[in-house]
Amino acid sequence: MQQAEIGLIGLGVMGSNLALNIAEKGNRIAVFNRTPARTKEFVAEAGALAENIIGCETIEEFVAAIRPPRPIIIMIKAGDAVDQQMEQLKPLLEANDILIDAGNTNFRDTIRRFDSLKDTGLTFIGMGVSGGEEGARHGPSIMVGGTEESWKRVEKVLTSISAKFNGDPCVAWLGTDGAGHFVKTIHNGIEYADMQMISEIYGILRDGLGMSAREIGEVFGQWNKGRLNSYLIEISETVLKADDPITGNAMVDMIVDAAGQKGTGKWSAIEAQNMGVAATGIEAAVAGRVLSSQKAERVAAEAIFGLPAPAEKPHDGMGFLADLENALLAAKIAAYAQGFAVMAAASKENGWDLPMPTIARIWRAGCIIRSQFLDEITSAFTKQPDVANLIVTPAFSQMVKDTDASLRRVVSYAALSGIAAPALSSALAYFDSYRRARGTANLIQAQRDFFGAHGFDRVDGKEYHHGPWGSGASIY
Ligand code: 6PG
Repeated sequence: MQQAEIGLIGLGVMGSNLALNIAEKGNRIAVFNRTPARTKEFVAEAGALAENIIGCETIEEFVAAIRPPRPIIIMIKAGDAVDQQMEQLKPLLEANDILIDAGNTNFRDTIRRFDSLKDTGLTFIGMGVSGGEEGARHGPSIMVGGTEESWKRVEKVLTSISAKFNGDPCVAWLGTDGAGHFVKTIHNGIEYADMQMISEIYGILRDGLGMSAREIGEVFGQWNKGRLNSYLIEISETVLKADDPITGNAMVDMIVDAAGQKGTGKWSAIEAQNMGVAATGIEAAVAGRVLSSQKAERVAAEAIFGLPAPAEKPHDGMGFLADLENALLAAKIAAYAQGFAVMAAASKENGWDLPMPTIARIWRAGCIIRSQFLDEITSAFTKQPDVANLIVTPAFSQMVKDTDASLRRVVSYAALSGIAAPALSSALAYFDSYRRARGTANLIQAQRDFFGAHGFDRVDGKEYHHGPWGSGASIY
């Protein structure tokens, strides 16, 4: 039998769809699942694509079915299972075989696994895959980390299965060891911020303006034709217009307001903190999900405090809707700017040399945050790859100038109405902090010096680094 050019372990939803995508693009693939019944079922359901698929019942059979040097995609739950799978495979593999972890893995685990294979002749790729089930089946965005040589060996097959933006494949090699998984983590952090900001706008339309789910869906549908055009706005429209088959109510009104999370948003926030980068949108989004999950406490608190009446709208009719649209754009700019700043810092720290224009480019299609907006980010970074912050590029600074007044009005309205808008508010605070040359940390420095003799720099550069605090201060 003709050997496969690639193998895949793990026939869950993502693994199955990825395998079908690989087979459909004319690549011969061997597949293996822990439970052989699933492998049989998968091959039986593959239809005409089964021609390109070799279903294997044992791991030995699976390895033998792939032509060396073997690229093997592992698409199983991130964590210990990946280490166990690697241990099971290792004795069966030969020099130059490549293990490719395609799960949502913490990049620190990826670096550890990459290093652990260094002297074995085997290589490791940490590969971020975004786009959910549909993306895996018909074209995901793929973020690759590993050696450049191992990338070259899988480039063709990964390019064939990736999403395309105007014909341009949404896959790239981003750097060594954990680079791909790190970029996927930040993708998810931005995804959290994007989703949180959209849901805050939904909250203002629902609880402030009293609009129905369907009406809000209409608004998002309109916005999707403009600058906010994106997959997340598009699915928000669809979701808001769907009815519950049981009650006939809007489906979204029947869903408990407690968000789940699997950890990638939290990792993004943690890494931003580790790197000393302010990623307030991502942090607000993670905290928003945490508070959302404390449903019983929130119900009890509402009974104590009640809710304020919605404030007077800053504009009549369409004016406020335009403000909301602009506010979402302004806040989105801040969140993306923060995400890219985290990646820039991580790139330096880990010696990756992450290519910012390429990252924006491969996020334009296939992934969950795909949008027209990312094409504009691609252009901005292509012109200035080393810019300190996306916000100060000519195109984005103009966008912020055009929209920050709207964000200000929307955040004020939400605050006066008692509607929580942590991500939108954090975006405004981030912008106001970032663009003010003289901030207020001089007082913090004075306080630190008072109680801890930590010293400060003077604005006139003079060599006198402690204050005249007198008795009570720790330096006297
Ligand atoms: C993607 C998604 C995908 C997954 C998230 C969901 O890019 O395709 O981000 O990876 O849906 O992990 O994460 P939460 O369960 O944490 O929301």
